[in-house]
This record gives sequence, C-alpha cells and structure tokens, in this order.
Amino acid sequence: MSPKFIIPFPLLLLLFILYYVSSETAMAAPQIQLRPGFYSESCPSAESTVRRVIRRAMLKEPRSAASVMRLQFHDCFVNGCDASLLLDDTETMLGEKLSLSNINSLRSYEVIDEVKDELERLCPGVVSCADIIVMASRDAVSLSGGPTWEVKLGREDSLTASQEASDAVMPSPRANATFLINLFSRFNLSITDLVALSGSHSIGQGRCFSIVFRLYNQSGSGHPDPAIEPWFRRKLDRLCPKGGDGNVTGGLDATQVKFDNQYFRDLVRGRGFLNSDQSLFSGDARTREVVMRFSRDEKAFFEAFVEGMVRMGDLQSGKPGEIRRNCRVANADHQRLHNILFEA
Ligand code: HEM
Ligand SMILES: *[C@@H]1O[C@H](CO)[C@@H](O)[C@H](O)[C@H]1NC(C)=O
Ligand SMILES: *[C@@H]1O[C@H](CO)[C@@H](O)[C@H](O)[C@H]1NC(C)=O
Ligand SMILES: *[C@@H]1O[C@H](CO)[C@@H](O)[C@H](O)[C@H]1NC(C)=O
Ligand SMILES: *[C@@H]1O[C@H](CO)[C@@H](O)[C@H](O)[C@H]1NC(C)=O
Repeated sequence: MSPKFIIPFPLLLLLFILYYVSSETAMAAPQIQLRPGFYSESCPSAESTVRRVIRRAMLKEPRSAASVMRLQFHDCFVNGCDASLLLDDTETMLGEKLSLSNINSLRSYEVIDEVKDELERLCPGVVSCADIIVMASRDAVSLSGGPTWEVKLGREDSLTASQEASDAVMPSPRANATFLINLFSRFNLSITDLVALSGSHSIGQGRCFSIVFRLYNQSGSGHPDPAIEPWFRRKLDRLCPKGGDGNVTGGLDATQVKFDNQYFRDLVRGRGFLNSDQSLFSGDARTREVVMRFSRDEKAFFEAFVEGMVRMGDLQSGKPGEIRRNCRVANADHQRLHNILFEA
C-alpha cells in the first residue's frame, strides 16, 4: 500500500486546501520583508558564527573566500536568493549545480555546509541557507580587505531548483558589456551596479576553459581579442596554451586574494582575464566611464559594491519556502506532502 491511502480522504482534502491556499497567498503576497538583525533573538550568534567559519575556511584555503562569495550571484540571479543553487540533484529534479555556468566551476559548497552544521547545533531549524549565503558573501569580502556592511535577513529556502532556469540566465564569460547591461537591467540593476558587482572579480580565479576562445579565436575571427594588452596576452598564452588543460586556473586580477580596485586598474590597461571583464572597459562607453572612475577611486567602488550586493540580495522568487535542515536537500516533510498531493 502506498502512503497516500493511509491518509483519510477528508484530511487529504484539508491538507490540499491548506497547501494550495498557502502557496497561492505566498505567491500573491508582497515579498518577504527582509531586515537587518533578523536573528538577533532567535539565534543571536548567527552572524558571528558565519564569520568564524568563513575565517577558518580562508585560513585553510584562501581562495574559498572568492568561491563562497560567487555563490550569492549564482543563487540570487536564478529565481531569487533562495539557496536553490545548493540543492543536489534528485531522481526527479535536475538542480543547478551542473548547469552550464556552474559545472566544474562553482566550489566551496562544503564551507556553506560547515556553517549550516554549526548553526543547526546552536539553533536548529532557524537560519536559512539563503541567508547563510548572503552573510558568508559579506564576510568573505570584508575578510579579504573589502568593505563590510549590514545584511538584510529573513529569506526562506526554496523547495526546488531548476537547471534550465540557471542555463537561461547565467551569463557566459564570452558576454560583452552591452549584453550584460541588458541582462542586469532585467533585475533592476543599473550600469553602475553591473560594473561594481563585476568588481567582485577582484578576488578569485577563472579557468583556461573560460578564456581560450579569446586567446586564439575571438568571435570566430581566428585571432586573439585585440583588447588584450600584448604583455598580458603572452602571459595568458603561457598559462593556457592552445589545446592545453582547460581546468588550469589563473587570477582574475593581479591581486587575487585582496579585495581592492586592482581589477579596474587592470581593465584600464587591457589586463582583464575574462572577455566579460575586459568588455566593460573596451566594449561600451557607458561601462567604461564607471570602470575609469573605480580605477581611480577605490572608496567609490566599495560604496557602489555594497549597494549592488544589497540590491542583488533583495531579489526574491515570491514562491513558498522553508528553513532547510540540510542545505543540499529540501526537508522531507515538505517533499512528502508535495508528493502525496501531486500524486493524489
Ligand atoms: C557580470 C557578469 C559575470 C560574468 C560573465 C561572470 C563570469 C565568471 C566566470 C566565467 C568566472 C570563472 C569561472 C571559471 O572559469 O570556472 C567567474 C568567477 C568569479 N565570479 Fe563572476 N561573473 C560575473 C559577475 C559576477 C558577480 C556579480 C559576482 C559576485 C558578486 C561574481 C563573483 C565571482 C567570483 C568571486 C569569482 C571567482 C570564484 C573562484 O575563485 O572560485 N561574478 N565569474
Ligand atoms: C554583444 O553580444 C551580443 C549577443 O551575444 C551580440 O549580438 C552583439 O553584437 C555584441 N555587441 C558588440 C558591440 O559586440
Ligand atoms: C523591477 O522593478 C519593477 C518596478 O518596480 C518591478 O515590477 C519588477 O518586479 C522588478 N523586477 C525584479 C526582477 O525585481
Ligand atoms: C574559429 O572559430 C570559427 C567559428 O567558430 C571556426 O569556423 C574556425 O575554424 C575557428 N578557427 C580556428 C583557427 O580555430
Ligand atoms: C575538468 O575536470 C573535470 C573533472 O575532473 C572534467 O570532467 C572536465 O572535463 C575538465 N574540464 C576541462 C575543460 O578540461
């Protein structure tokens, strides 16, 4: 006998109505009101715990700061900041971890798991994985020498994830500035937000796989991207020879563990790693103006970066959520109810 027959029909009907109504209201209702200090009573040590684990992870592997903060971008752009990114694939759901932009590229999921484990010990069932990503990203930036800021919290975790949605939205390293301006504007993010948020490439690394086209055959021309400064191109050619290992990585800017405005100084000199980076200077006058400003004024970059991170953190799906107990899987009770209802 399958479990659905154990539940008496009137109860099932009631469950169905409750589930349906609550989902509908959640969807129609205004978005969740996020606010600073959301856990100050329910889990007072939430923010200090996240920071401690991120600091520990960075001591073990400096690059983990970059890898963790990248998760906010890849989470928030796909159906809002709901930790959908963190769900592992299941038999019935292809999640986002293997999408075009994420496969063999996103990393440090285990750092988020470590934070979650500690928080589940301290305050079980209270702190969402979506909020952990946002807190961890903030800490990764400030512990790398960047600005710090107050994060708004209170997000819920999604019940599902979508590989298709990730493939449809996440930009390729081949993208140009014009394309990115349009993409970001779909999320109500301005040209300044785009350039400032791209400044997150002040930390971390990219793979040869992401740049060989621009080294050897930009836009099918058979030639390198002319925007790459010759000295830097020789350096990249040595790192990423034609036909070489696509998984070899290089720094996205000249100071890859320090969050600073070196990224923008590099772009001005034709030393951007990704096409999407260099294009912000070389491909569109509207972004070039902002790149030049940030290359001269680190404080202006930091301020715009913080604004951009907060705005990106405001993106929400409007779908019903939960506080996951394990960031990699939706809670079983929700799953079971969902299955019963949609099998019935
Ligand atoms: C504007 C469009 C963007 C594009 C096209 C883009 C693309 C990429 C690519 C291709 C990589 C290297 C991946 C690889 O080769 O495996 C990368 C790395 C990275 N991205 Fe972006 N990105 C963009 C915006 C952002 C934003 C908004 C953030 C965060 C706010 C971000 C944070 C990072 C970080 C920190 C890394 C280094 C990660 C590591 O070392 O593990 N990126 N990005
Ligand atoms: C930018 O990329 C888009 C889409 O890939 C392409 O259609 C457009 O021609 C490119 N624009 C420039 C200025 O290269
Ligand atoms: C962008 O702003 C408009 C107008 O305020 C709003 O209707 C829309 O939902 C916003 N889009 C996103 C992705 O936040
Ligand atoms: C460059 O790319 C174009 C279009 O994708 C292709 O037709 C051409 O053979 C490539 N050239 C080289 C030298 O790989
Ligand atoms: C990188 O490594 C992964 C796993 O080891 C492998 O599946 C993938 O094909 C490699 N990617 C490239 C571009 O070489």
